[in-house]
Amino acid sequence: MPKWLNDAVFYEIYPQSFYDSNGDGIGDINGIIEKLDYVRSLGCNAIWLNPVYDSPFMDAGYDVRDYYKVAPRYGTNEDLVRLFEAAHRKEMKILLDLVPGHTSDTHPWFQVAKRAKQSELSNRYIFTKSVWDAPPEYRLMCGICERDGNYMVNYFSSQPALNYGFNVITHPEWQLPPEHPDCQQTVEAIKAIMRFWLDKGADGFRVDMADSLVKNDDEKYATAKIWRGVREMLDKEYPEAAMVSEWCHPDRAINDAGFHMDFYLDHYGNGYSRLFRFGEWGDLSVFNPNGLGDLKGFAEEYLPAYNRTKGNGFISFMTNNHDMPRVSAYHDKQTIKLINAFIFTMPGVPFLYYGDEIGMRYQRDLISKEGGFSRTGSRTPMQWCQGKNLGFSTSDKPYLPVDLSDDAPTVENQKDDPDSIYRIVTDMIAIRHKNSDLHGNGELEFVYKDGEIPFAYRRGSTVMFFNPLGKEAEISTDCVGDVVYKIGEAVISDGKVKMQPQSFLMIKEN
Ligand code: GLC
Ligand code: CA
Repeated sequence: MPKWLNDAVFYEIYPQSFYDSNGDGIGDINGIIEKLDYVRSLGCNAIWLNPVYDSPFMDAGYDVRDYYKVAPRYGTNEDLVRLFEAAHRKEMKILLDLVPGHTSDTHPWFQVAKRAKQSELSNRYIFTKSVWDAPPEYRLMCGICERDGNYMVNYFSSQPALNYGFNVITHPEWQLPPEHPDCQQTVEAIKAIMRFWLDKGADGFRVDMADSLVKNDDEKYATAKIWRGVREMLDKEYPEAAMVSEWCHPDRAINDAGFHMDFYLDHYGNGYSRLFRFGEWGDLSVFNPNGLGDLKGFAEEYLPAYNRTKGNGFISFMTNNHDMPRVSAYHDKQTIKLINAFIFTMPGVPFLYYGDEIGMRYQRDLISKEGGFSRTGSRTPMQWCQGKNLGFSTSDKPYLPVDLSDDAPTVENQKDDPDSIYRIVTDMIAIRHKNSDLHGNGELEFVYKDGEIPFAYRRGSTVMFFNPLGKEAEISTDCVGDVVYKIGEAVISDGKVKMQPQSFLMIKEN
């Protein structure tokens, strides 16, 4: 297990929207290099970079055309290596996004595989035996290539699924077992890509749809086995490299598959949603002043997963990511402050989505860009300062419009505002780094009675109290110590914490 993870705080950068260094309207790698000090100044010591590979951008780069080449609009491979080096000089790590489940249909492998002529790439993707063979339980593209067969897609129609085999074979005439040499070759191809970028200085990968590899694999044992093999390769060849999975099943992702971290995603009805998103735009979430949230629902899902994976890996809370509406679509400013206090004091390795530190807003009603659809509103350019495109780009045609409202938050107008989300985020991250109780593998004891809100949790000798409610509330405690941090008003005395509406208190016991 790479030691650096224990005190890592990640920043997710959506490269096309972060900073445009050459005025063509699209964020780029040199722009990220220019802003590294900014990211570091937030307290983030690691970055997850969304895909920067060559792509036709039907799904914003999750449709890879060449895994070995940086998309020209972002720069060159040399620029990316310079980013690794610059980050390492500042003691920061960079994870690339690995998309192992599918490629773009413009990828050369697919161009060869879809030909009628048999080749060593014919089994790189999943084709049925003839175009008349289209079982409805599989997502197939039919009748659009020379080869006599339909091919399976993973996500959008432009993303044919790579072939890692089938765990349960329902159509032996075209489905291969994962042990088939051609499926093993797919695994080797992905490992080769990983080695290529790790050798150039990448510090690991965020793995896209990590559970999607082997088909008909309900318990995911066959998929996990592949990742175990990848983890063994890392342990042997790149012991400092880390992998975080887009899976949201810590038991499988961490214990079975060997990921170092697994994202706690917003899957409908799970603990993450119950905390921050549940109901009609968050009205049934724990962090809503109306008190209708289901804390027990969160605890009963999260705590067993935490206990089962503790010591083996980290569950990653995130402020948001590029796939869901920003938290500002759901909650008021004070609530968002409390949410950040929660995310950056829980165990695991936290992720901050670019712009969330200044409270960037979800932009509704934008026309979809590069396969974003409803996600487009969370992918708008970073807001740096007053002026053209809020400092993102000098171009007249930015990648997406910036927030046009008069009071659009920017780094410039939030940074020195004592009442800002920025202040809470940076304070929390700084406190987390300084206090090892709050590091990734520090203890957690969640204190809640039948899901009652307010609630508290203890991490070593540090105790966090939360009152997300819109009314004053009390919580009894045996904790005695010094106030480290406060949001809103809360006082501890005589075995009780008296909390004003929407408040937070952190105590360090002496
Ligand atoms: C993941 C990515 C998402 C992408 C999809 C297909 O969910 O986060 O952005 O569209 O996979 O690759
Ligand atoms: Ca640019």
